[in-house]
Amino acid sequence: MSTLIVDAVEAPTQSSISDLEAGPPGSFVVTLIIRRFIPEIDEEPRWQDFDVRVLPTDRILDALHKIKWEQDGSLTFRRSCAHGICGSDAMRINGRNRLACKTLIKDLDPTQPIYVEAIKGLPLEKDLIVDMEPFFESYRQIQPFLQASGNPVRERTQSVAARERFDDTTKCILCAACTSSCPVFWTDGQYFGPAAIVNAHRFIFDDRDEAAKVRLDILNDKEGVWRCRTTFNCSEACPRGIEVTKAIQEVKQAVLRGHA
Ligand code: SF4
Ligand code: FES
Repeated sequence: MSTLIVDAVEAPTQSSISDLEAGPPGSFVVTLIIRRFIPEIDEEPRWQDFDVRVLPTDRILDALHKIKWEQDGSLTFRRSCAHGICGSDAMRINGRNRLACKTLIKDLDPTQPIYVEAIKGLPLEKDLIVDMEPFFESYRQIQPFLQASGNPVRERTQSVAARERFDDTTKCILCAACTSSCPVFWTDGQYFGPAAIVNAHRFIFDDRDEAAKVRLDILNDKEGVWRCRTTFNCSEACPRGIEVTKAIQEVKQAVLRGHA
């Protein structure tokens, strides 16, 4: 799925200004304080306030769209599906990693300003956009694809119990909320990070796969699973509810056993 970078510049309109004064029943004005960084003009990131009229059931992504379309077209962020599937709009909202498209205004405290900034630990490119390449490089290194020999004439079947072993880690949408909430990753960008380990787990415990040992050796590296300090930030950050820390623990145990 391609990811749209919302980046066109539009001028605010008169109708948008009056819209702030009177909106649909139940709407109210909330303040978003967004950490901006435009590399062409900013030497350092800066905070900028925006007042925007919203409904309680609006999401942070809706508020960002309203700001972009009605107040400041230069505001830049990623989003694609807008429904929690593509993983492109992870950001820090009130100091916690979340998906903007899954965070309802009413679930925050809209009487207070809402702080929005880019996820941490990856190079900041512009406003809410970071360079995801180091994240995907770690992902590629764990060989996230099924490796099985033979030339079967029908699908490779699997028992329900065998599938259950890695069910949780199949849910990952590669949003990076876990990895970018990890204090080890903040201080050591070489650490594979929780998301890469989650995706290694998905194949290590798949009984149709034959490359578990290869992945376990990769993760036995000094930048592998042993850097995890079990702080649980990753599990708390995951918008898919994956038990990330548990998956990392299971991979650690498999490394010690030498097999899945
Ligand atoms: S494990 Fe969860 S938080 Fe981490 S990348 Fe996957 S979906 Fe995102
Ligand atoms: S825009 Fe796709 S997960 Fe939020």
